[in-house]
Amino acid sequence: MASEPAVITSVRALEILDSRGRPTVQVTITLADGTMAVAGVPSGASTGSGEAVERRDRDPARYGGLGVAEAVDAVNGEIASYLSGREWAELADIDAALIALDGTPDKSRLGANAIVGVSMACARALAHSDGRELWDWLTPGGVTPRLPVPHFNVINGGVHAPNPLDFQEFMIAPLGAPSFPEAVRAGAEIYASLRGLLAAKGYATGLGDEGGFAPQIAEPEEALDLLVTAIRDAGYVPGQGGVAIALDPAASEFRGDDGRYLVAGQALTSSDMIERYAQISDRFPVWLIEDGLAENDWDGWAALTERLGERITLVGDDIFVTNPAIIAEAIARGVGNAALIKVNQIGTVTETLTAIATCRDGGYAQFVSHRSGETTDTFIADLAVGSGCGMLKTGAPARGERVAKYNRLLEIAAARPSMRYGLPGA
Ligand code: PGA
Ligand code: ZN
Repeated sequence: MASEPAVITSVRALEILDSRGRPTVQVTITLADGTMAVAGVPSGASTGSGEAVERRDRDPARYGGLGVAEAVDAVNGEIASYLSGREWAELADIDAALIALDGTPDKSRLGANAIVGVSMACARALAHSDGRELWDWLTPGGVTPRLPVPHFNVINGGVHAPNPLDFQEFMIAPLGAPSFPEAVRAGAEIYASLRGLLAAKGYATGLGDEGGFAPQIAEPEEALDLLVTAIRDAGYVPGQGGVAIALDPAASEFRGDDGRYLVAGQALTSSDMIERYAQISDRFPVWLIEDGLAENDWDGWAALTERLGERITLVGDDIFVTNPAIIAEAIARGVGNAALIKVNQIGTVTETLTAIATCRDGGYAQFVSHRSGETTDTFIADLAVGSGCGMLKTGAPARGERVAKYNRLLEIAAARPSMRYGLPGA
């Protein structure tokens, strides 16, 4: 993607804080032509077991063991010595060098948080050195960049909030909005109407990790009722022609050792869960379900896809972990019909682009995503545009680390008035 080889002159990392107040890695890359680029590394809470592994110090005397001083040292030491002073033709070469230098299959030696920060900062540096916007530089040949449908996570549960709601994320998706700015407006207006509705019903309006409200509700259907009312109260039409709903139950988090799913105190089998989702989809304008079943329930996933795959976008997150090989297997087995895309889940930008291409070639949709722990880095906004995938989730339309991404997209939309908004083919 870079037109001319670049020489990296410096690679520096810093331990900074993420949106949960936990340490994370920030990387600054400098090129010989004077280009400087910075990247902040996100961090998940409901992680898939197959994710690339974050390196944490485990020193109880600092940040309760969550410090990333060793990952920072890995960047400033080994990685900087290897990358600096060399000529790099492509980001793929840098990422391959990082993977080889690490030497483990899960990036645990140097740390996925060290590696992904370097990869993201290098991508940004190479793009800027080429005089191009990151989204443009990230767009593969033959792909049309698009402004994605923002999926605003407005009710938080699961491990992202201390309420009894087992489903992790309830999102509103303005699929029918005429433009990206109008989609943002819909999201913010519905968020405001939801706040009013919750307050009127006597619920607290405190926020979860991704900026959504975290009311003391247990039943997912009750949260869905509130969403539909909030959409209508704000003057929008619930449904795919207006504002649809997306769910990320993050079911790996509430599956017990006996294989049953615990929802609002009820123990449900895989087939009970599938039936519940079918009923939910009949009753509410739900267009997408992510991680409806657990990462190790491949048979359940196949049955879920069989039952609902024709009408619902079924996104694999914990089960696919942005891993091109796992996504290829899922495509071969007919498991799900879309993949969540998280750069830090696989650990390099190049592998992320391969995961996206694997989906595209296999007819699976791609859903670019933030993590519950974030910085103000906006890389994923550009990735969502450049991939042409048409959909992004990056939390509520509130909290600085979430709105940084939506605001970056507003800037892109303003700079490129002719760029299309919405799902591919829409
Ligand atoms: P995480 O959650 O960032 O805490 O892993 C996000 C998700 O499950 O999609
Ligand atoms: Zn998820």
